[in-house]
Parts: sequence; structure tokens; C-alpha cells
Amino acid sequence: MVKRLFLILLLLPLVVFAENGTIQSGKIWPDEDGNHINAHGGGILKYNGTYYWFGEHKSEHTSSALVGVTCYSSKDLLHWHNCGVALSVTDERGHDIEKGCVLERPKVIYNKETKKFCMWFHLELKGQGYNAARYGVAVSERPEGPYEFLYSQRANKGTWPIEFGEKEIASANALNMADFKEGWTPEWLEAVGKGLFVKRDFKTGQMSRDMTLFVDDDGKAYHIFSSEENLTLHIAELTDDYLHHSGRYTRVAPAGHNEAPAIFKHDGTYWMITSGCTGWDPNEARMFSAPSIWGPWTQHPNPCRGPLADKTFGGQSTFILPVSSGDKTQYIFMADIWRPRHPSDARYIWLPIEFEDGKPVVRWREEWSTF
Ligand code: GAL
Repeated sequence: MVKRLFLILLLLPLVVFAENGTIQSGKIWPDEDGNHINAHGGGILKYNGTYYWFGEHKSEHTSSALVGVTCYSSKDLLHWHNCGVALSVTDERGHDIEKGCVLERPKVIYNKETKKFCMWFHLELKGQGYNAARYGVAVSERPEGPYEFLYSQRANKGTWPIEFGEKEIASANALNMADFKEGWTPEWLEAVGKGLFVKRDFKTGQMSRDMTLFVDDDGKAYHIFSSEENLTLHIAELTDDYLHHSGRYTRVAPAGHNEAPAIFKHDGTYWMITSGCTGWDPNEARMFSAPSIWGPWTQHPNPCRGPLADKTFGGQSTFILPVSSGDKTQYIFMADIWRPRHPSDARYIWLPIEFEDGKPVVRWREEWSTF
């Protein structure tokens, strides 16, 4: 009897570890205090051996920002410590990030030169629905914050994409919204490709919604976002301090209707996974690759495999995290299962990216472990 009790006591920690020691997508994910992690549409930064997970704080009954951007830290990607609010919305009326605004998909990158943590996010001004279509920038001396809000605006005002030469600019300038009474006709699609919306927003700046950030091996950073009424993705280079656009940007998949961009680089190829545009409802993921961040970008079939693969397992992409151990690198595909009626109950999908015939594949797994 005593022996059996001893054995049970000995095995108990293993049982608990088995329960907590794997990544289980779609389940409640308790932090160190036992509360479901509240960091949606997020991204992860590794700094000094610690992972920092930044995301949208979601409330019980509204998807508007009542708190701001939260930060969690972890050494093993499984057990997360709540570091609190990294960027707080404010009570100040009329402020860009006034409580009740829409503040989505925050991402943080570290600038080695300035030693600053730079946060970019999608911002919609309070009371304006999704019309503002801005990006916001905040900065901090420490990974977990507090972050100081710097500014928000539309993108690349008065600038054409790098692939537009004199001829393309003239042809875009000749386009007028008024000539297109109906969308999705062959003529309209052609005009979108030629920059119908880029021209429309040229003077005020390009729309900037769903987004991510990417730092390349050479230290150059990029802001990748849904623009042109979510019809076309833009990839915009950042200035060396990571706090502004440099003015160089390219368009990806014009009229392709892509949202939720997540990107990684493997063996010199850039891979991007996105979603279609169905709001909080899941749809089939898309995948693109390019030999350079500037393109050309080629579309591939849906990389998801398994149950609900045609709906991204019920989720929508948000980030791809490279995790290295020795000379091995694993890429983790991260997505959100949104719950618009109970936003804080939204769940996380984290799945390892495999390669088949040299192409990324995201296979559903009930549970798995990182190395
Ligand atoms: C999704 C987008 C989310 C959020 C939502 C609002 O398509 O990816 O970040 O903006 O629409 O309906």
C-alpha cells in the first residue's frame, strides 16, 4: 500500500506535465495565474532568451479596445506569465487610441541600433467603424512596456509603389472611381491591378488594416498590411529606426482580397500565409512565396491539412514564429479562432509547419510539443 502510494506520488508530476506539456490548439490556454491568455491577433518577439507574446486584449462583450495591448512572457512557449498591459488605450477624448477604438494585430520588433522595442498595430478611430484604416506606432525601452504611443496615420501618402514607372503612373492617374459603377467586373479587376485604389488614396495615404511585421536577416524591417479596401496587400520597408515607412513599398496579389498576413523566411525563400476576407468567420488559408521580399510573389494552394483544413481549422492566421534549437529551426503557425459574441473566449491555434516537396504544410494536431 505504502509502496503504491509512493509510486502514485512519484508519477503525479509526470501526469500534470503531460497535461501542461503540450500545445493544444483550440483549448483554453491558462497563464501562470490560471486565466485564459488574453492576447489575440498577436505576435511573438524573442529577446534575451525569453519569448514575449503581444496581442489584443479582448473584453467579454465587445471587440473594441477597452484595455489595449497585453504582453505575456515565457521561456518554453508553454507556460506564460502575464506581464500586464504593454500599450494602454486612453480616456482622453479624441485621442487616436481613445478607449473604444479598434486596436488590432499588434506586433513588436526590436531595433538593435536604437535598442528600442517598436510596436506597430492596426488602428480604427473610435466611432468610425473600420473607415480610418490606419496603422499606429508605439515605442518602449523594455520588451514588456509600457509603450509610448507615437502616432497613427495612413500609409505612404503621395508615393507610388516601387514597381510603378512613368507609364504605370500615367495609367493609374487616368483611372477614376466614377467610371466603375460596379465592382468585380473584368474591367474593374483590371483597373484595381493598375492601381485604381492606389490612385484614389494617393493624396491621403493608403489604407492600412490587418498587418504583421518582418525583420529580414540584413536587419531591414517591413510592414505587411491589407490595403486598398482589403483588396491588395502592401509590403512597405521601414526606416532604420523601425518607426516609420521608408517610402519604398510593393503590392502583392492586387484584387486578391487577402487579410491576416503572416510571414517567414526559410532557405532564402519568403513564405506568406494569409486568409480571405470574411470578417470573424474562418475561410480557406492562402499561401504565397517569393525569392525576394519585393517579389515576384507566386500563389500556392492552401497549406492546411486535416479536419476543417478548408476553414484554416476554424481560425485565421496571425503570425509565424521561428524557433531554433541547435542548428534546427521550427516554424510555428499561429492563428486565432475568433468568438465575436464573447471576444475574450477566442482561442489560439498553434501548429508546426512541415515541408512537403519543399513547400510548407500545416497539419492539424490535437497536441504536440516544440523541441
Ligand atoms: C477580420 C480581421 C480581424 C478583424 C475582423 C473584424 O477579417 O482579420 O483582425 O478586423 O475582420 O471584422
